[in-house]
Amino acid sequence: MMTQTMIDTFNEQINRELYSAYLYTSMEHWFMKKGLKGFANWFKVQAGEELTHARKIMDYINDRGGRIRLKAIAMPDCDWQNILSVFENSLSHEEYVTSEINRISELAEEEKDKASEIFLQWFITEQIEEENSINNIIDALRMIGNSVVATFDMDRELLQRS
Ligand code: FEO
Repeated sequence: MMTQTMIDTFNEQINRELYSAYLYTSMEHWFMKKGLKGFANWFKVQAGEELTHARKIMDYINDRGGRIRLKAIAMPDCDWQNILSVFENSLSHEEYVTSEINRISELAEEEKDKASEIFLQWFITEQIEEENSINNIIDALRMIGNSVVATFDMDRELLQRS
């Protein structure tokens, strides 16, 4: 059984993961409204991944005999200036999530909760991947600048993500 501090902390992380799914769904529909189905698809897949992250933590709390208590999910932004600012927003959000995962990992160490430390390793690696893939898109967007043709090419490419 985990300590109540760890259970509460994991419950807070569930809320962060669900908020991430909510934020990325909001971004998905911003792109849908602009007719950029590939960018929308990228965020739709991303939102789905966030739900699996939340579920993974729920399963873990259950396996350790803890109680899941869901909290209200904050309202996400729904308007952005341009494509680049959407991805910059998602990057800063992921950096925040990374810092929280690291903080929980440090807490697990303080609580001498070895199982949670090992469990969190997956999330630490996942955060590296997530930040990296967003950074790659930001680099590409900076390169193509205002080119409409290149933007539509990229949109077609992002439609392939599944
Ligand atoms: Fe579940 Fe994007 O962190």
